[in-house]
Amino acid sequence: MRKVLVLHGPNLNLLGEREPNVYGSVTLEEINKELKEQAAKFDVELRIVQSNHEGELVETLQNARHWAEVIIINPAAYTHTSVAIRDAISSIQVPTIEVHLSNIYAREGFRQASHVSPVAVGQVSGFGKNSYLLALQAAVLIPLADKKGK
Ligand code: DQA
Repeated sequence: MRKVLVLHGPNLNLLGEREPNVYGSVTLEEINKELKEQAAKFDVELRIVQSNHEGELVETLQNARHWAEVIIINPAAYTHTSVAIRDAISSIQVPTIEVHLSNIYAREGFRQASHVSPVAVGQVSGFGKNSYLLALQAAVLIPLADKKGK
């Protein structure tokens, strides 16, 4: 059973009411429900955390290092600003998949740079809630390093 942590960054708790023209009408609860349904089909043990706080996201990443085999993260606005989240990901050595609902490369210039991409195994961007579901499929398919002896 693969252990996967899903991390949602700031303002994603407001999905559904937040800029529906950009992010659609889906709520975070609906996304999490679909993730849980897919996880059950893929035999994935899933933990899901949302936080609006950079330090809390860093601590959640750190605390996941002994449990999670794969991390799926939508760092939201911190994608474009947070060296701390990037460093946390590169420190913990857990393969991490970056997710965005919108296609960040088709938006404002400041959204087109990600601090997270260089330390992620890959990125899914632009498919709305399906970005998360595609990332979960990737989380099941990617090979894991042998961590025996660590
Ligand atoms: C986002 C894109 C970010 O630029 C933005 O700050 C978000 C959401 C997305 O999922 O499309 O909050 O990560």
